[in-house]
Amino acid sequence: MDKLIIEGGVPLTGVVHVSGSKNAALPILMGSILLDEPVTYTNVPDLRDIRTTFKLLELLGCPNAFENGQVTVTPGALSPEAPYELVKTMRASVLVLGPLLARLGEARVAMPGGCAIGARPVDLHLSALEKMGARFDLEDGYILGRCRKLNGAHIHFDFPTVGGTENLLMAAALADGETILENAAREPEVVDLARFLIACGARIEGHGTSVIRIQGVPRLGGCTYRIMPDRIEAGTFLVAAGITGGELLLRHCPFTELEAVILKLQSMGMDITATPDGVLAKCGCPLRGADISTQPYPGFPTDMQAQIMALMCLADGASVVEESIFENRFMHVLELMRMGAQIKVSGHTAMVRGVSRLTGAPVMASDLRASASLVLAGLAARGVTEVRRIYHLDRGYERIENKLNAVGARIRREAE
Ligand code: UD1
Repeated sequence: MDKLIIEGGVPLTGVVHVSGSKNAALPILMGSILLDEPVTYTNVPDLRDIRTTFKLLELLGCPNAFENGQVTVTPGALSPEAPYELVKTMRASVLVLGPLLARLGEARVAMPGGCAIGARPVDLHLSALEKMGARFDLEDGYILGRCRKLNGAHIHFDFPTVGGTENLLMAAALADGETILENAAREPEVVDLARFLIACGARIEGHGTSVIRIQGVPRLGGCTYRIMPDRIEAGTFLVAAGITGGELLLRHCPFTELEAVILKLQSMGMDITATPDGVLAKCGCPLRGADISTQPYPGFPTDMQAQIMALMCLADGASVVEESIFENRFMHVLELMRMGAQIKVSGHTAMVRGVSRLTGAPVMASDLRASASLVLAGLAARGVTEVRRIYHLDRGYERIENKLNAVGARIRREAE
């Protein structure tokens, strides 16, 4: 296991290239299962979850070769089983359910179970697929799904689930007839998946709104597809500029997709502008506190909650953070407090009182975005911060210490 050792206090300045989006790439790569021709993807980030996805695709009968951000996946004779060893390391593996049912009429996918940020059930995925004619049993910890042929259906999600909408989009693309998804997720990553499926021949309308209509087609072919840039990685670098009092130019930064985050950072005193070369972020210090409530897109993303909280720790005045999406997503709080932050949690709400400085400390990363928040706090802290268990970070950030060091940070990776 590796740890990061961060010497804080250096304002970051320079240019950062935003990588391809992990959360867009995962469902799009799983979408290869739907195709009967090879497909090539570009701008694929080199991350642990992406490598896990390639292993999973290989096991399911879709060989692939990944190099320099590019991969060609060649769908072959499919096998229906996603084993526990892979699913337990990456919950998004459940996204193979829809494609496997659509292609094979059968899927055996290990039940994902809980994770550090909450229970995260998949009941909405299963009940929606049942409406399309699938039947599910739980057998030896595996979800066993079967269907003769998926049929189009009218589905209303109780909650705009991102993964559920993605699973259903893929299932419906090859189903018989029309599927209507109501209260669908509007996240940019869902839109990227829809665009990919359309490039392969799917008939989809309304992606990016809460009602998506899909006309099933008999087959989908290959294409070459460029994955969208990662709005959460970009948002994390915007906070890095703010928290260190630096100035960063983010190339390939999705601006519209980050609007809720950018508006909030601007209200805290950051200067963020879209320029022809990229998004320029500076800190118009001193920062002011702000209130956020995490919401489905276009609201403030839960995946940026931990990072903006690190910034709030050093802003003037009080900030209130309400986490509305996940029930247990404040695990960074105790670690931030070990660095001198003043935060009180009550249920789903955290109250942050800004302090004038954080001090370096050994801290433990508990999940992906919590890890990012600790790295950000370490960049601003006086002294040395050791962030342990950074395998979480490697699931979602491509070469984070290299990217940060290139703009002035002092970070070393060491084996624990
Ligand atoms: C995706 C993202 C994750 C992000 C989240 C919310 C990927 C790989 N992951 O996760 O980074 O934080 O969206 O923006 O893209 N729920 C149920 N039943 C279900 C499905 C979801 O109760 O069947 C609940 C979950 O427990 C959670 C909430 O709905 O509390 C949001 O889940 P969902 O939108 O499905 O998130 P994911 O797709 O898991």
